[in-house]
Amino acid sequence: MSKLFIPLATLLLTLSHSHAEIRQTSVWWLPRNVNMFGHEIDFIFYVILWITGITAVAVFSVMIYFIVKYRARPGVPAIHSHGNNTLEVIWTTIPVFIFLALAIYGNEQWTRMRLRTPPADALPVAVVGEQFGWNVRYPGPDGKLAKMTAAKVSKENPFGIDPQDPDGHDDFTTYGELVFPVGRPVRLYLSSKDVIHAFYVPEFRLYQDMVPGRVYDFVWFKAEATGYFQLACNQLCGQGHYKMFGKLSVVPEPEYEAWAKGKAPAATASSESSSTPVAVAGR
Ligand code: CUA
Repeated sequence: MSKLFIPLATLLLTLSHSHAEIRQTSVWWLPRNVNMFGHEIDFIFYVILWITGITAVAVFSVMIYFIVKYRARPGVPAIHSHGNNTLEVIWTTIPVFIFLALAIYGNEQWTRMRLRTPPADALPVAVVGEQFGWNVRYPGPDGKLAKMTAAKVSKENPFGIDPQDPDGHDDFTTYGELVFPVGRPVRLYLSSKDVIHAFYVPEFRLYQDMVPGRVYDFVWFKAEATGYFQLACNQLCGQGHYKMFGKLSVVPEPEYEAWAKGKAPAATASSESSSTPVAVAGR
């Protein structure tokens, strides 16, 4: 049985042709980064990797050397050491400064990504998770999304909007399909209909939990390159968690405009559920 597993798994993976770009290079390493914020995240990842890597090699080398050098030998008495204060001070002070530097840098990047107000010209896009798919809402020609209210999110009204909201009349929705213009900031409005899901795009270095009862309006990004990616749910949310992914494309702005123009405006909240297919569209 176990002998069959790998060929079978390979076959299944080959058959389930996915929309996302297939990684030909760095399969064992990070996927490419296309988000403006990703450079700093990758930078601090490599800094930590180098610091911990060098420390691990140094510590284990010294340890192995001492194990061999001071091994028990007949006739050689053990040395009783009471420690060395100078060494203790040095190897406590250095890590303190390293940790402080990492914390300050990390905090600064987090502030930049999540605590500052997203740019005013950002494209607002609402994404509401459900078992097991993604409701997506885009603004129409007015560039404005209907206001989302967490308390109003329901099965029939996944975006928690007021049907009378004039900003919402030209909005359009998709299910599991996301298209973003390259080089333009996108501001997300994230929520969930049922359980905790998570918006996760590895190529964006972007991860945000979506807890029902909340609307997260502080997540934004700017894609710097075009491509096809996968939006993956990254919180175990039920039996269908493994197939909860969305097709995500980053395209040139005119291509985005053309795509958006071809979408019909969303109906009002009451009839919206009829446009929601049961399974993830496309696969
Ligand atoms: Cu939604 Cu896992």
